[in-house]
Amino acid sequence: MSTSELEEKRQARLRSVRREIPPLGLGTWQIPNGPECVNAVRWALELGYRHIDTAQVYGNEASVGRGLRESGVARDEVFVATKFYPGSRDPVAQAEASLRRLGLDHVDMYMIHWPQRGATWAWPGMERARELGYARWIGVSNFSSDEMDQLTDQATVMPAVNQVQFSPFEYRRGLLDECERLGVVLEAYSPLGTGRHLDDETVEQIARRLERTPAQVLLRWFVQRDIPVIPKSTHRERIQENARIFDFALPDEDMAALDALDQTGGTDHARENRRRRFRSRGQIVLGPKHDA
Ligand code: A2P
Repeated sequence: MSTSELEEKRQARLRSVRREIPPLGLGTWQIPNGPECVNAVRWALELGYRHIDTAQVYGNEASVGRGLRESGVARDEVFVATKFYPGSRDPVAQAEASLRRLGLDHVDMYMIHWPQRGATWAWPGMERARELGYARWIGVSNFSSDEMDQLTDQATVMPAVNQVQFSPFEYRRGLLDECERLGVVLEAYSPLGTGRHLDDETVEQIARRLERTPAQVLLRWFVQRDIPVIPKSTHRERIQENARIFDFALPDEDMAALDALDQTGGTDHARENRRRRFRSRGQIVLGPKHDA
């Protein structure tokens, strides 16, 4: 395959994953199983969210499933993501357990939660879970550039996403570039810095000038960077506030001011000059199971 064909394939894959993942999701980390979680999920769906993110280790999948059912929103309108706890050994068995807790027959995204005991061992089990129809897409979370390289070197089905901590303050351009080079969509968790970034002076100033809230300013930055984002809240009015980010734009100078808040130096060891890894492999699967 020629370089331009590979490039086209990579771009097409990024486009197809981005088309599939609603750009705004509700994060549910640290929301305990129970009514608080059921309500947050139900409110989010009632308020127009179409993407809910959970994980086996959060312990709240049952409430996520319940919130989804209680919302009355059709299952196939919602993108449900969960994550494999890598302290256990079998992604297939754990996917089955997740589906039982969620009360679903498949999730839309199943990610390795973090690269415990190495970047690659769990991937064949993730691919198997996908083959069995338990997940439409498979991906990873908390993987560094090196770990992405190791994984994509061995993967038969390429990871669709790498969900990582990311925000203007953690603007890990090296990791973002590496993910894009590999045809993997970077997705952001803790976009508000678990609340810490909301009282930053630059963010507040922009918010005042645009008559928006600091949370909206931060979340809009992701929309304009084309990065799916999953802010967490258990408060209805905040869940609503966080969704009002599609009816305004940050001017270039505000984007630049937010970019300048980065405290990582734009790194993540992604700048090494590695050989191209997104290469011609007949067996690379580009779409989700149902589209492949
Ligand atoms: P709460 O759940 O009590 O509403 P992150 O998504 O970066 O992890 O941030 C989540 C934290 O930010 C939570 O503590 C959440 O509190 C708080 N939070 C979420 N949205 C807002 C908002 N619009 N205004 C203020 N705090 C918010």
